[in-house]
Amino acid sequence: MSSLHFTFSIYLLTFALFLQTIFGDIPLYNICSSSENFTTNDQYESNLRKLLGNLNYQTPSLGFGLGSVGWYQYQTYGIALCRGDVAAADCKACVNDASNEIHKLCPYDKGAIIWYDNCLLKYSNKDFLGQIDNENWFYMSNVQNVSEPTIFNQKTRELLSQLAKDASFTTKKYAVGELELGKSTKLYGLAQCTWDLSTIECLQCLDDAIGQLPSCCDGKEGGRVIGGSCNIRYEIYPFVSA
Ligand SMILES: *[C@@H]1O[C@H](CO)[C@@H](O)[C@H](O)[C@H]1NC(C)=O
Ligand SMILES: *[C@@H]1O[C@H](CO)[C@@H](O)[C@H](O)[C@H]1NC(C)=O
Repeated sequence: MSSLHFTFSIYLLTFALFLQTIFGDIPLYNICSSSENFTTNDQYESNLRKLLGNLNYQTPSLGFGLGSVGWYQYQTYGIALCRGDVAAADCKACVNDASNEIHKLCPYDKGAIIWYDNCLLKYSNKDFLGQIDNENWFYMSNVQNVSEPTIFNQKTRELLSQLAKDASFTTKKYAVGELELGKSTKLYGLAQCTWDLSTIECLQCLDDAIGQLPSCCDGKEGGRVIGGSCNIRYEIYPFVSA
């Protein structure tokens, strides 16, 4: 890496940390459902507020929260999930940021989802609990290409398939791991599902995510396939706390 490049990276990192200090974490992405809206002072709004309060309270200790508030057309369902290695205090901060931010981004939507590095928050007027979210996906990838894409893609798939199995069978629905790529390089991976999925559903969701790797991150040094029920990530550097 050239020194100019390096300085620029440090500069960006510093700037990102600066922004983070002022504004809290920056969301990776969000989706507002827009198919049904509520109005100000609607019963749905107060139920949603209560639901978000419950999720804020419930999620940090375990890393996952789930709930529903209200009845009939005013009922709202929600989940919050923190990345498996995130400490309770950071989880709390993330879910809190997520609740505030999603309210600004999707003010009148009955359903919405927002993702951060450390957490995801989702709610809807439809009961989605225990069902795989096949609709809400997005990708992130490193711009750098690897020198031997065929073998690299194969190794990535191998690692993530193993982690998909590991995550599905654990109670925290989370697994991280690594794989030797050569003498001096390693591949690091992560797989995680929301806890409302069963073992089979989690595995199916993660397999779907792995199936999207060619569209997401073919031959790229790092990538993430992120959904409403599960996500995978790989990098050639460690990216989770031990
Ligand atoms: C809900 O509101 C958004 C803008 O806030 C709008 O784009 C969308 O069409 C609305 N949906 C319905 C069903 O009214
Ligand atoms: C990676 O490869 C793609 C397609 O082969 C190319 O368009 C892109 O410029 C490459 N990116 C870098 C950073 O070299």
